Amino acid sequence: MGLIGRIMVGLTKCLPRFFVAGVAKRYVAGRDVESAVRVMKKLSKEGACFTVDVLGEEISTLAEAQFFIDEYDRVLAAIVEHDLDANLSIKPTAFGLLIDENQAYENIERLLSNAAENDIFVRLDMEDHRVTQATIDIVLRMHAKGFTNVGTVLQSRLFRTSADIDSICNQLGPGADFRICKGVYLEDESISHTDYQPIVDALKKDIDHMLDRGAYIGIASHDHPVINHALATLTARGMGSGKSDPRSGAAGVRKGKGAGYEFQMLLGVRGNVRRKLSRDGHRTRVYIPYGERWYEYSMRRLDENPDVAMHIVKSLFMPWTNRR
Ligand code: FDA
Repeated sequence: MGLIGRIMVGLTKCLPRFFVAGVAKRYVAGRDVESAVRVMKKLSKEGACFTVDVLGEEISTLAEAQFFIDEYDRVLAAIVEHDLDANLSIKPTAFGLLIDENQAYENIERLLSNAAENDIFVRLDMEDHRVTQATIDIVLRMHAKGFTNVGTVLQSRLFRTSADIDSICNQLGPGADFRICKGVYLEDESISHTDYQPIVDALKKDIDHMLDRGAYIGIASHDHPVINHALATLTARGMGSGKSDPRSGAAGVRKGKGAGYEFQMLLGVRGNVRRKLSRDGHRTRVYIPYGERWYEYSMRRLDENPDVAMHIVKSLFMPWTNRR
């Protein structure tokens, strides 16, 4: 990808903001929580459930964390008011993780406590390798404090992920609740796979590993080989559409979850695949990002992973490859 990807990123960054806004509309629900609610109500009719993300991350002062604390409280209130089938996704660095770990714990604990009042789950998105362990530690520490409405994301591109699955499952048992994905941050080859096929192979293995360990699993991929593998491995384990959660009665079974698993996709990406999964009886969750900082967020994603620019350009010029 290298050169072409970087050229695409360079070109995208030269585009006028209004043009980028037009493209971003597909992938970002809007600027405010009201827009996110409107999008969710519309997609509910397609059988989707949701996880809401307030755009932004890595703040430079702790005071900035207050914005996210307040905004997520607004999201919680909106979920309850509109009776939406939704939970939250948060970026720990937006709560101060890279500035003051203890303060970040306190900020996240406050949010978890507010969410728990309505039995709403909170997913800690996984950011780059600088915060992998700290993010996992938050989840473990919160469970130790009695918050069971929290889980994190593991990235199959990282070599450490298989060991992380074991260590988290050893500590949380059926309370372990993962999102598994390839990982959007391009990490160094000393700690991660860097080519497509090894990443896909690792992701397939991680899905199996999580299921074997009895964890709840959110399969976050739009990639056909990964989705097909997930469907086959679920069937092989007697799980899937119309089947009950084999962990029934276990501590990990929660309101708003699927039968031991769910599929997760980004807003605006491969909607036809998501709708098909949903029609076939699988729980499918759409990741709904919204916020004022959509432009900065989109540009940072392009910097981190030029594949994103390629996907977007492909959707524009070859729409049949990626239906909304
Ligand atoms: P792949 O990249 O091969 O994409 C398959 C096809 O899907 C592409 O050909 C394209 O058509 C379409 N597509 C995929 N991504 C697209 C995009 N951004 N825009 C337009 N089209 C796209 N990562 C991380 O590091 N931490 C996290 O917390 C999360 N959280 C997360 C939540 C959810 C719900 C999803 C779906 C993904 C994430 N990710 C993430 C991102 C993830 O790690 C990965 O980078 C992307 O999902 C792309 O990988 P795929 O497996 O979808 O395959």
